[in-house]
Amino acid sequence: MRSSNRLLRTMHDIRLLYSSVGQTGLDYPALTSILRAASPNNVKLGITGILVFGSGMFLQALEGERAAVNRLYTRILRDPRHTDCQILDCGDIEIRRFPAWSMKLISLDDAPTSDRRDLVGKHFGAHGLDPSRLSGAGAYAFLSELTSLEGAAPRRAVIAAR
Ligand SMILES: Cc1cc2nc3c(=O)[nH]c(=O)nc-3n(C[C@H](O)[C@H](O)[C@H](O)COP(=O)(O)O)c2cc1C
Repeated sequence: MRSSNRLLRTMHDIRLLYSSVGQTGLDYPALTSILRAASPNNVKLGITGILVFGSGMFLQALEGERAAVNRLYTRILRDPRHTDCQILDCGDIEIRRFPAWSMKLISLDDAPTSDRRDLVGKHFGAHGLDPSRLSGAGAYAFLSELTSLEGAAPRRAVIAAR
């Protein structure tokens, strides 16, 4: 038996994308307080990703070792600051798309740049920002393009610009 069997790997990195509905009244300070706890925790767990908030909804990508992502997602599910979590996509990855950030927060409601407005228009059209309507591929494309807009990011940036 060859040891390079791709179907039998002991360590898997996965990417999980989910959407959720934020608790009513979540403001930017509340979002940054989520990140203050999340970032050091994610560094410890080897998890990277991006958390987008807009129109009262979250879209998050979690990348990391499969067991660590599963455990974290189970904890996030129980968080009363959001409801209606829906997994949009989840699967093995060879390369991380968001390796630079222990968790990058982007709030689309505050001071949106024209680039960001255009991107939201492109991906959500007339429906307005509702990540739960996106397909898995659509959610990945949106986050990926949003990440590209951010340009060269410092490694391990924590609470980032709006
Ligand atoms: C939308 C959302 C995203 C979150 N993302 C993370 C995350 O990436 N990492 C993390 O450790 N906690 C995250 N949290 C916070 C966790 O739900 C939880 O409060 C935190 O990990 C502390 O858990 P503990 O109270 O069990 O120690 C998130 C919470 C919300 C509402």
